[in-house]
Amino acid sequence: MQDYKGLLAEVLIPEDALQRRIAELGAEISADYAGEELLLICILKGGVMFLTDLVRHITVPVEFDFMAVSSYGAGARQSSGQVRIEMDLRVSLTDKHVILVEDIVDTGHTIAAVLELLETRRPKSLKVCSLLDKSERREVVVPLHYRGFDIPNKFVFGYGLDLDEYWRNLPFIGVAKTD
Ligand code: PRP
Repeated sequence: MQDYKGLLAEVLIPEDALQRRIAELGAEISADYAGEELLLICILKGGVMFLTDLVRHITVPVEFDFMAVSSYGAGARQSSGQVRIEMDLRVSLTDKHVILVEDIVDTGHTIAAVLELLETRRPKSLKVCSLLDKSERREVVVPLHYRGFDIPNKFVFGYGLDLDEYWRNLPFIGVAKTD
């Protein structure tokens, strides 16, 4: 397999800028939920790097859980507009303050479907935190309460986002070559 450098057109968000913004988001969330307990729900796989860095900056008591949904399918670069629950939560949401943590909101279909599902489980509150917002691609209106960066309509990878399942471990967000 070739190194990621051959696939990288440019670094869009370097590691230090990512980490600075994540610290700000953690501080903002901590202030908003002061005196409360919080449940963060990470949507796998892309959100996992962001979740683990974000929680280090949250100062209120926080638990987290994971769910997996599929929308794109391995290898595809377009959203299908369909989502399927691949792995559900183990915790109850009833009467909890909940934040959904995503790496990216693109068309919005994934987050819209997950919000609709989770609202039926009667959380005390339900918000969305996404590191990246590809807002010009939006097809459905979704609430985005905490947002790291608005990004252009380019195929990005790294820091949780994959290129055909690899390179999620890169500490920065890069733009893939289109060749
Ligand atoms: C990505 C991302 C979001 C979704 C956003 O997940 O993590 O869940 O797509 O796209 P949308 O707003 O157009 O619905 P993906 O299905 O690629 O799975 P992954 O996180 O496991 O890579």
